[in-house]
Amino acid sequence: MNKLKELARGKAKTLYETDDPDLLVMEYRDDTSAFDGGKMASLERKGRVNNRINAFIMQRLENAGVATHFVRLLNDRESLVKRLKMIPVECVIRNIAAGSLCKRLGVEEGLELSPPIFEFFLKNDELHDPMITDEHIRAFGWAEPEEVVQMKQLTAQINDVLAGLFADAGMLLVDYKVEFGRSGGRLLMGDEFTPDGCRLWDAETRRKMDKDRFRRDLGDVVETYEEVAARLGVDLS
Ligand code: TMP
Ligand code: ASP
Repeated sequence: MNKLKELARGKAKTLYETDDPDLLVMEYRDDTSAFDGGKMASLERKGRVNNRINAFIMQRLENAGVATHFVRLLNDRESLVKRLKMIPVECVIRNIAAGSLCKRLGVEEGLELSPPIFEFFLKNDELHDPMITDEHIRAFGWAEPEEVVQMKQLTAQINDVLAGLFADAGMLLVDYKVEFGRSGGRLLMGDEFTPDGCRLWDAETRRKMDKDRFRRDLGDVVETYEEVAARLGVDLS
């Protein structure tokens, strides 16, 4: 497998074509972005730790029956993934109130949400990822009605697997965002699952262990991601 030309460069990752038209190399850079690109920094070792955490989680999800684009780790910063036709929506599940939910509805951070809340957002930085409903997805053709049902089911299944995984490692999975894409007529989980795209709190102290450390200038961003990796048993050697 040879890495060929750059296909797409996002805020934190770059995708490259390979000599296999169905496979891409996903490179995790140290670049870190928040507020839809409004705040950017390069944080040494972040690409490496996120690449490793993502590989670990994607493998756990595959083992639990959630199909993902992940194929294998290639090196410190790169993983091999299946090429997907991405659906331009973000699927969020919230187990505990935080972030934009608190801002939008005036609820207190930390409120337990039972059952968890599912939300769709449009993936569009210029519009600041507005919240959308199934009806917008249908009206504008962003996904087929069956795909909407599947995305909700899969995002909930991911919660079942990962909330337990993080709980066993002493962390609360507060909320997270996942994305899906099409490959050979199937819907696969794409993008990543790392502390950049979820909220994790220490189960005892509720210390923030995710990108809120960067958003809110709490410090020790990468060190804390490395602690998440260590608690999960992710090999960082
Ligand atoms: P929010 O509270 O900002 O709506 O975010 C909810 C969760 O989804 C949080 O863990 C961060 C994640 N998320 C992203 O990673 N990228 C995004 O563009 C959005 C909208 C949310
Ligand atoms: N993921 C988005 C960004 O990179 C939003 C955020 O994390 O605050 O800007």
